[in-house]
Order: sequence, then C-alpha cells, then structure tokens
Amino acid sequence: EPLPAFDMVLFGGTGDLAARKLLPALLAAHAAGVLPHDARILAVGRRALSRKRYLAQVAEALRAHAPSCPDAHVLEAFCQRLSYLRLPAGDTAGYARLAGRLSPEARVTVCYLATPPDQFADICAGLAAAGLNGRNVRVVLEKPLGRDLASSRAINAAVGEHFGEDQLYRIDHYLGKESVQNLMAIRFANVLFEPLWRREWIHHVEITIAETLGVEGRGAFYDRTGALRDMVQNHLLQLLCIVAMEPPASLDADAIRDEKLKVLQSLRPFASAEEVARHTVRGQYHAGAIDGEAVCAYTDEEAVPDGSRTETFVALRAEIGNWRWAGVPFFLRTGKRLAARTAQIVINFRDVPHPLFAIPAVCPRANRLVIHLQPEESIRLYLHAKEPGDAMRLQPAYLNLDFYEMFRMRRADAYERLLLDVVRGRLSLFMRRDELEQAWRWVEPVLAAWEATDARPRPYVAGSWGPAAASALLSQEGVTWQEEC
Ligand code: BG6
Repeated sequence: EPLPAFDMVLFGGTGDLAARKLLPALLAAHAAGVLPHDARILAVGRRALSRKRYLAQVAEALRAHAPSCPDAHVLEAFCQRLSYLRLPAGDTAGYARLAGRLSPEARVTVCYLATPPDQFADICAGLAAAGLNGRNVRVVLEKPLGRDLASSRAINAAVGEHFGEDQLYRIDHYLGKESVQNLMAIRFANVLFEPLWRREWIHHVEITIAETLGVEGRGAFYDRTGALRDMVQNHLLQLLCIVAMEPPASLDADAIRDEKLKVLQSLRPFASAEEVARHTVRGQYHAGAIDGEAVCAYTDEEAVPDGSRTETFVALRAEIGNWRWAGVPFFLRTGKRLAARTAQIVINFRDVPHPLFAIPAVCPRANRLVIHLQPEESIRLYLHAKEPGDAMRLQPAYLNLDFYEMFRMRRADAYERLLLDVVRGRLSLFMRRDELEQAWRWVEPVLAAWEATDARPRPYVAGSWGPAAASALLSQEGVTWQEEC
C-alpha cells in the first residue's frame, strides 16, 4: 500500500534516538523505495546549526548506526529530504516559522517528540498555537511517558488539551518487532495453539529481555529511571499483553487495545511490601566481563553517583487474575550487562498427565514454545521425539519457524515499521492512554516498596545472568529459566 505524501518533524532531531534509530529507519525505508518521492524530514533542535553542519552530523550518525551503509548516491538522495530548524525552548514565534515550512492541510504531518517528556506539553501547546493540530497532524510520543501514574496522567492531560486520542501515537518499539506481530498471527490465525493457550495446559511463561550493553553514555537519565521504568512498565508488559490477551473481535486498533487493557487490569496487584519482596528481585551490576572484555560496575559509569541504588536488573513473578490464566506464573526479567543479548518469550506447557516414557533431563527442555524476538527472529516448538535406533529413547527436537529463512525478504526494523504505521494512520501498535496509565498503576507499588526499603539492589557480576535470587524466584516453584533448563 503506497504511503501518502508526508512531512516528518523530528523534535530532538540532533539527539541520541534520532541518530541511533529514527534516521537509520527512515534511511532504510528510503533505500527500499518505500518513501514517496516528495516525503520530507525536518529535524528540530535547540542549537544553531547550518543545514550543511546538520547533514554532516547525519552522515556521521548513519555511518555509525545504519545497519548497512548505503551507496553514496542513495545517501545523498536521502539527505535531499532533510532540513534543520532551530527552535529553542520557549521560542513561541519559532512554531510559526515551523508552520511556514509545512502544509498540514495537504500532507500528513507527523511530529515525533524524541525529547525528554517534560517538554511534551510545551511542544504540543506550541504546535497548536501555530495551527499545527489539524486533522492531518499526528504526534508520536516517545517513552518514558512520565515516571509514575501521576506524572504520566499530567503529560497525557496536557497533550490531550491540544490533540485528540486518535492523533496520538505512544510508541513502544517492541510492538514493532517482527516476531511480536507474528505471535499474534500464530495465535489467532491457526487453530493449533489457541485451545492449549490457557491454564489447563500452560504451566508458566517466561519473558526475558537481556542486554549486554551497559548504560551507553545515558548514565544521568538511566540513574533517574532504572530497569523497572525503562523496560518493565512498557516493553515487558506489552509483550505479556500480546501473550495473554483474548482474541480481539477485529484488527481494529481499539479492539486490540481493549483486549490488552483487560490483561493489564487483570494483573494481580502487589498488595504489600512483603509481596513485593517475595515476588520481585532487583539487581545492579558490578564489574565483570562481556565477551571477554572487562567492563566497569554500574556505579563507576559516567554520570552515575557513587552509592546509587538504581536497579539495572529486574526479575518478577506476575499473575493474571482471570479464567484463562489464574494461577499461571508469568516470570518477567530484564537487565543490562547480562550474559547475552536476547529477547524471548517461552511458553512452558504442562507435563503429560500419565508419563509413559523416561524423559531425559537435558537442555533445552521439550514441551515448550520459544518465541525469539532477537537477535534472530524465530518461533520454535520443542517436542519430545524418539531417537533413531532400537531403544525407545526420547530426545528434545524442534520445529523451527525462522522468518528470515522462510521468507527471505527484507526485514524492516521495528522503528521503520512503526514510523510508517504513523504515516498510514494505523494506531493498533501504539499504546492508548488508558493502557499506559494502567501499566503505571500496576508497577507503582513495586516502585514504592523499593524506595521505602534500606536494602540495596542485589549485586551481580557483569556478564552473568543476574543475581542468584532471580533463579530462586523460579526454583521455589520447581522450574528454571530457559538457559538454566
Ligand atoms: C529502550 C530502553 O526502550 O529499549 C533502552 O530505553 C534499551 O535502555 C532499549 O537498551 C532496548 O531496545 P532493543 O530494541 O535494542 O532491544
């Protein structure tokens, strides 16, 4: 489906997200011939920069971050689309200048707010005052959207004064990952899994997002944020929603978002500090090694204060109080400086009711469905199968759906897909206000309990799988994380 003519305005256009994700995503779409010939990208920043200087910065960012550096002429044609506008905070007249460069009556106009969230209200007010809030204008809001329920409500209310909910695209880039969307296809387009997708047949679910990276020059931001706000409140809970939601009535954005909201509303709240202590583990990395290279402790990272108590690792046990999922533990885990970069969802099925065979205690265990989100994108169904030969000996074997091997098509990165969805006006992969606020409501007691305690986060060695307590969280229920089998 061809894209409509559009202008994309990148607030925070000289920032980290633009350099790492947004410009590489737009370049990839350009190189694939997906962008209309007259699509324009206008970066907005606080600094005074000539177009030439800005383009030099862009070229450097793309060399560093674009997955495959395109030919010089492709890069040059892409740069033709780009321009730069200085718009310092508080410069209300600047928005009229911005409006003068856009034509929102005729073209879809996407304003991507890749700035700290405390600027969202002012930017939206500035856009509206300059008449940039009409029907064709869409606003993308980057995370973190607040740091708790009250601040996220305040941002949503301020933004909502100027834009309708159908103009607001709250991005969670995990929803743009190929395997996440494939999980919906697998669940809702095949009859095979859905009957088993419930408490009677599923023993527990693991969702892991592990990173080998540290805080990458974002120490000041990260120290105010921590893994619970950075990863659990959004990415991990969104993945949990996709696993646990009921089949929606249609693929309508609101039909999908209604079902996700119901999952969030059904999450059992942590009722006391004791429950938080029993069902959550927070950790912080100490010095160690990643891929044989020594790395420093979190508290020795630039801009991180000595003695910081910010968590760089979280593992927790969640439960969904509804008929489908009652009693099934959902173990969520994420951390920086872990042993491997991997994101995966593991659906662990129950054992057969009457065992006929001796089941080998080997790794990986069979009877599970593993959805790999990264680094590779695949879905594997591990089964017990008979080893060739006389004896009836079982081994785990798997059916493998490797999306790349299977389809051999260009894979769009999550940001590319989501940016193009905004241009097309598709809201289904973006979070609605009530979803976001419900997710905050659920994590708040954890934040509060951690803030109130004197206990420090548990230490773990950089390059390990996190604190031992994260393994204990599962072993007390007789199970183990996938990599520990
Ligand atoms: C971001 C977090 O939302 O997601 C980062 O702020 C994290 O801290 C990143 O590194 C992980 O995304 P991905 O797609 O690289 O797994």
